[in-house]
Amino acid sequence: MNVGILGTGDLAVTLGRVWAAAGHPLSVTGRNGRRADEAAGRIGHAAAPVAPAGFAARADVVVVALPWEGLETGLSLVGGPRGALAGKTVLDCTNPVDYGTGTLKPATGSAAELVARTAAGAHVVKALHLFAGASWPYEGPRDTAPVVALCGDEASALDHAAALVRDLGGRAAVVGGLDGSRQLEEAAGFVMRVVAAGHNPRFAVPDVDPAALRAATG
Ligand SMILES: NC(=O)c1ccc[n+]([C@@H]2O[C@H](COP(=O)([O-])OP(=O)(O)OC[C@H]3O[C@@H](n4cnc5c(N)ncnc54)[C@H](OP(=O)(O)O)[C@@H]3O)[C@@H](O)[C@H]2O)c1
Repeated sequence: MNVGILGTGDLAVTLGRVWAAAGHPLSVTGRNGRRADEAAGRIGHAAAPVAPAGFAARADVVVVALPWEGLETGLSLVGGPRGALAGKTVLDCTNPVDYGTGTLKPATGSAAELVARTAAGAHVVKALHLFAGASWPYEGPRDTAPVVALCGDEASALDHAAALVRDLGGRAAVVGGLDGSRQLEEAAGFVMRVVAAGHNPRFAVPDVDPAALRAATG
């Protein structure tokens, strides 16, 4: 898969390193060409820094690694509103959350839905926002691998997202359509609130065995 990363910061580099090492040709772009050069250098594996204008044509899958405040600017730079990303899978990793309070920044809807409105015709999947980039690659036992919840409307885009999650070492769980993405983004705010209260969010949700639950409820 030709993976294009829109963004040149920490998440771009940490995810990019794992996917490039897994053999995916990787391009990286952003609003600052020097930062794109540096990010590609840190990713290694022949990752290519590209100018925003040439970015969309190179990518089968675009990974958005921008802050909420930069989504419209960043997507416009690569031609999103003109349809340059139409038909492509676009993974939105944004945490549109006030880190101090855990409050979601969009008053309604979600960052992923803003991405879908701004990248005309793109097949958007909400993915990978909950885990720090440094969580990857996960190389431990499969039954304790991180579960990455995905929301999206296009089966092919969800398949691309699931494949990229597997390459990170995670397990993909499709939990709904893009209209469920606000709930996934709220989950990040919940995690931040639990951390701010001094607890590990791993212990703030119930331990539920789906098979046992199915057996118990018939
Ligand atoms: N870091 C993680 O582990 C992690 C994990 C999950 C989700 N996320 C989410 O991923 C996104 C990126 O996080 P990050 O840690 O990679 O952030 P970061 O290191 O601060 O990088 C942000 C990137 O966005 C660009 N940017 C910032 N403001 C912009 C604007 N107004 N217009 C266009 N581009 C802009 C920056 O460009 P410049 O260099 O030119 O400023 C940089 O390329 C965030 O939404 C974050 O919540 C991060």
